[in-house]
Amino acid sequence: MALLRRLVTLCTVLACSNVIAADVSTSGLSTSATASATGQVTPLSMFIPDAASRVNLFIGTTNGGHTFPGATIPHGMVKVGMDTDSPGNHAGYDANPIFNATGFSQLHDDGTGGAVPLSLFKLWPFTSCGKGNTFEECQTSIDGRKALRKVLHDGSPDDAAEPGYFSSNLSTNIRVELTSTRRTALHRYTFPKGTKTPRIVVDITNDGQQSSTDPEMELDPDTARVMGGAHFEASFGPGRYHAFTCVDFKGDGYDLGAPKEFGAWLGNFPVKQTVTITQLYTSFTDELGALFTFAPNPNGTTAILARVGVSFISPEQACANAEEEIPDFDFDVVRSTSRAQWSELLGRVQVDPSDVDPEIVDLFYSSMYRTHISPGDYTGENPRWNSTEPYYDSFYCNWDTYRTLYSFMALHDPATFARVVRGMINIQQHEGWLPECRGATAKHYIQGGSNGDPILAEFFVKFHEHAADLSVPADALYQALLADAELQPPNWDLQGRQANIWKSQGYIPSDVWERSGTNSKQVSRTLEYAFDDFTISQVAKVLGRTDDAKKYAQRSENFFNVWNPNVTFPGRKDITGFMQPRFVNGVFNFTDPRHCSIHDPLQSTCFLNAQNHDGFYEGSPIVYSQYVPHDTARLIQLQGGREKFVSRLNFIFDQDYFDSTDEPSQQIPFMYHYANQPGQSTQRSRQVIAEFYNTSVNGLPGNDDSGAMGSYVAFYLAGLYPLPATRQFLLSSPYFREISFKNPVLNTTTTIRANGFQGNPKSGTGGHVFVKSVKIDGKSWESNCFIEWDAFTSGSLIELELTSDINVPCGATSGTLPPSLSTGGYD
Ligand SMILES: *[C@@H]1O[C@H](CO)[C@@H](O)[C@H](O)[C@H]1NC(C)=O
Ligand SMILES: *[C@@H]1O[C@H](CO)[C@@H](O)[C@H](O)[C@H]1NC(C)=O
Ligand SMILES: *[C@@H]1O[C@H](CO)[C@@H](O)[C@H](O)[C@H]1NC(C)=O
Ligand SMILES: *[C@@H]1O[C@H](CO)[C@@H](O)[C@H](O)[C@H]1NC(C)=O
Ligand SMILES: *[C@@H]1O[C@H](CO)[C@@H](O)[C@H](O)[C@H]1NC(C)=O
Ligand SMILES: *[C@@H]1O[C@H](CO)[C@@H](O)[C@H](O)[C@H]1NC(C)=O
Ligand SMILES: *[C@@H]1O[C@H](CO)[C@@H](O)[C@H](O)[C@H]1NC(C)=O
Ligand SMILES: *[C@@H]1O[C@H](CO)[C@@H](O)[C@H](O)[C@H]1NC(C)=O
Repeated sequence: MALLRRLVTLCTVLACSNVIAADVSTSGLSTSATASATGQVTPLSMFIPDAASRVNLFIGTTNGGHTFPGATIPHGMVKVGMDTDSPGNHAGYDANPIFNATGFSQLHDDGTGGAVPLSLFKLWPFTSCGKGNTFEECQTSIDGRKALRKVLHDGSPDDAAEPGYFSSNLSTNIRVELTSTRRTALHRYTFPKGTKTPRIVVDITNDGQQSSTDPEMELDPDTARVMGGAHFEASFGPGRYHAFTCVDFKGDGYDLGAPKEFGAWLGNFPVKQTVTITQLYTSFTDELGALFTFAPNPNGTTAILARVGVSFISPEQACANAEEEIPDFDFDVVRSTSRAQWSELLGRVQVDPSDVDPEIVDLFYSSMYRTHISPGDYTGENPRWNSTEPYYDSFYCNWDTYRTLYSFMALHDPATFARVVRGMINIQQHEGWLPECRGATAKHYIQGGSNGDPILAEFFVKFHEHAADLSVPADALYQALLADAELQPPNWDLQGRQANIWKSQGYIPSDVWERSGTNSKQVSRTLEYAFDDFTISQVAKVLGRTDDAKKYAQRSENFFNVWNPNVTFPGRKDITGFMQPRFVNGVFNFTDPRHCSIHDPLQSTCFLNAQNHDGFYEGSPIVYSQYVPHDTARLIQLQGGREKFVSRLNFIFDQDYFDSTDEPSQQIPFMYHYANQPGQSTQRSRQVIAEFYNTSVNGLPGNDDSGAMGSYVAFYLAGLYPLPATRQFLLSSPYFREISFKNPVLNTTTTIRANGFQGNPKSGTGGHVFVKSVKIDGKSWESNCFIEWDAFTSGSLIELELTSDINVPCGATSGTLPPSLSTGGYD
């Protein structure tokens, strides 16, 4: 209970939004959910008493996953972790032990592309320096100081991580441990026995891109406090940002006293007794910082704590953050508080692990964990304007996350979701448009449309009745959506849309070059704008703005304007009709449907690149020709009916056009639902998991994209797929006999129970996993293909009857198919 009280007070201090006072000491009790006659489920089954213990933070930490395995609280601003000299060190770390550690820095993103973001204010420990072990011999530069990690018998580096904590043993025999609060990191460096000169470097300038300018730094020779900052380059946009730090040291279990030696350094040259970098000739290199020699512990092991506050406002604020959040340098308390927050948050979703491969349980909680790293809660750290509203950052990018991340949050963490939405609305009120892609307070390039729209709409469609309680202003939310939809910003490549031509033309022509940015990817953008407008129509409908609802629903059908029925897949006459680039005069240009796929004869890439005039972003035309989440019925019609639609889906999988690494493919495995073949969706989605996702360090097929992939996998394992901004979820079977979602805002727990569960086929193929019938609170539910949000608001028991027959239909009538706009869905 002491721990718990601590957790609650700390959370008040840290303004963390939604810590439920779950009594950690009783969470070991396991009670089975029981359905009463009325179907109410009481209480939450605690199958997994400590969900945080099931998280593997190293999934996707080599080979391009770019996942962050360091320490953070849920949506923390500070994400403290190891940086390595590997090529793909976007989140700092690489699990391959051939790479050296170069420092332990305070800020990271998770799973991004672009240039290496953040990774700034690195610390580094030395046991000794050079032959003479003098201060001046310390190789302080990033190349001079780096060292390998110790390697375990199995060939992996001696690194360990769990939610809220990271540790590593370096080849120099120094042990490094890291933990954090929202804006402050706490490091512990344990030096080997006999160390006479424990030294620590503070590096002010080396961010992930080594992009710093105008560094400032001052150290205090008595207390060893270091205050400093610099300007750095944004990762995926044209801007720069200014960040600050404040570092303090303390002996762990002994009095550190004043540092024995101190000085600023420049490259590999520490200069004793200097206290600012202005005392050095700084024009020749941009590597700068502070170095200290501390007293060893005369009575035992020398362990030194470093508390590192960070701010985007000022070094003074970095100090204030640190003093407020970690007043007493108590590593164990900070660590256990972070851990308790994770355990409570992850424990809101409970899965029955019986008859399930433990790796699947780990994969589930690890994936769920990664939905709570970004965006980061930077409240109080917005340098551009003052506001009492929350400020979230690291939307990297909404294009990646809108599809699944926020819908997963809606199930168990609407309070955080509401805070993110409030922060986004506040950005729109000050900048004119919702954030699309953003990092370190700087705008980044848009990838698709204005994909803040589906995020706000997802919140409002599901939680409009609670919006006022959650301090989300409905009017302002709607105005923010309208701004995206109607007003063209001067820099539509950073926020908003090409609204003018979208309104006049109904698609983005491939031969109109508008001022600003990347005049490419016009077909993808057309499809994104169409879906964005659909989500606005759903909000308008909730608000009773019938005319707007109709207008935006009509605009959402504009995807049809880039459909060319006459393009045929090379060598496959039966696969006809594709999304294609179109000129302003209405004539279509041609892009090979294989473009950007692994079978593209030209081997083109579809990344953001102004030189590409092909029309497509991170997906081939054949993938984008499936990309109309709100009106698949119309798509089926365009493709020549259900049979053709299904054979096209099969072709996409069988010929490897399904691209597991990029988001435009994410819904495709579930699309058989719309052709009344939900068993095929169940099998395809399970095959995708079996083939591409696992708990190994390379267990991600592409970047995690700020949790986009994590939330996607969590949904697949839960047997659900979301349709953002609607009240429906596509339904499959969970990988568990039972999975339940506790929603603290609605105060409900919803359980999906798979009756007759017999485990999961390893390869994803076949098995007793197909949904034959559904009961909600004891009453039969007509569709095997979707369930309504109402089941989650009321806290229902959803019982699935399973079968081995893959050919089960959605149900008896056409009303049992998931909704589509053109067939009157969503009303
Ligand atoms: C690790 O650092 C050592 C010493 O600087 C260097 O020789 C080695 O090449 C580095 N490893 C990699 C993968 O860069
Ligand atoms: C590092 O070494 C310590 C013993 O000094 C050990 O307890 C720990 O498990 C090792 N590994 C990590 C990753 O901390
Ligand atoms: C070492 O231990 C002695 C005896 O317990 C104590 O008086 C002294 O303060 C300790 N030294 C440090 C630096 O903590
Ligand atoms: C925010 O308020 C503080 C304190 O009044 C002020 O110093 C600062 O300049 C303000 N920041 C902005 C961006 O307006
Ligand atoms: C497709 O071909 C038909 C028949 O030749 C023609 O009438 C129609 O205009 C063509 N459509 C487009 C978009 O090219
Ligand atoms: C038409 O498409 C081709 C092939 O992708 C491309 O090279 C060309 O630039 C396009 N024309 C225009 C005006 O966009
Ligand atoms: C794990 O997933 C990765 C990435 O998709 C894949 O390359 C690898 O083969 C998988 N490993 C196993 C053991 O399935
Ligand atoms: C939540 O529901 C439980 C059980 O129905 C009830 O005991 C509790 O008071 C409710 N809590 C809130 C905050 O409404």
